Amino acid sequence: MFFVRTASERDLVKVSALLGETWHATYDSLYGADKVAELTAKWHSVPALKIRLARKNAEFVVADNGKDIGGMGYAAMSETLKKGAVLHQLYVHPRFQRQGIGRDMFAELETCFPDAEFMQLEVEPQNHPAISFYEAHGFVKIGETTNCGDGQSGIPAIIMEKPLG
Ligand SMILES: CC(C)(COP(=O)(O)OP(=O)(O)OC[C@H]1O[C@@H](n2cnc3c(N)ncnc32)[C@H](O)[C@@H]1OP(=O)(O)O)[C@@H](O)C(=O)NCCC(=O)NCCS
Repeated sequence: MFFVRTASERDLVKVSALLGETWHATYDSLYGADKVAELTAKWHSVPALKIRLARKNAEFVVADNGKDIGGMGYAAMSETLKKGAVLHQLYVHPRFQRQGIGRDMFAELETCFPDAEFMQLEVEPQNHPAISFYEAHGFVKIGETTNCGDGQSGIPAIIMEKPLG
């Protein structure tokens, strides 16, 4: 039985491994394993995760069953969108998908930003399971970008939004 709690520094080695494995399972067929390895090494290293954990106006959660970390989620108030929060990451290990962990982590994350009137996210256009998950949770497509995640990733994404409150 997994429960959702705020992440701590002690979790980050496991979270980094979870992200590496889940990214390869999700994106190797889309971007190739080498590109995934490059991006995950840059974005999901323990030092990169530590910076996210320390950020103010942000919430970093994990799903824990006492033995494994089955999923992670990270959302923060936007630095550019007024009264907007951004769901930056929501990942459930392939072994534990479709068991309600994503739903439980998202339920926690969407209540963490009382000042936000909406939440936005970016999702790979071919990631149909994730798009179905987000649609099931009230998100609708509002636009597109060609550089998901950072200024020059070259990764296309759909932008989705959900009103909060
Ligand atoms: C997308 C993801 C976060 C969903 O988490 P999850 O724990 O697997 O999903 P849940 O069990 O909480 O699903 C809740 C609901 O979302 C929808 N859903 C989830 N996965 C789905 C899928 N593969 N296909 C269609 N609908 C799906 C369903 O409505 C589901 O309810 P149901 O199981 O009662 O039908 C998870 O599958 C994941 O990490 N995928 C790989 C990484 C990824 O793509 N992350 C998002 C990056 S933007």
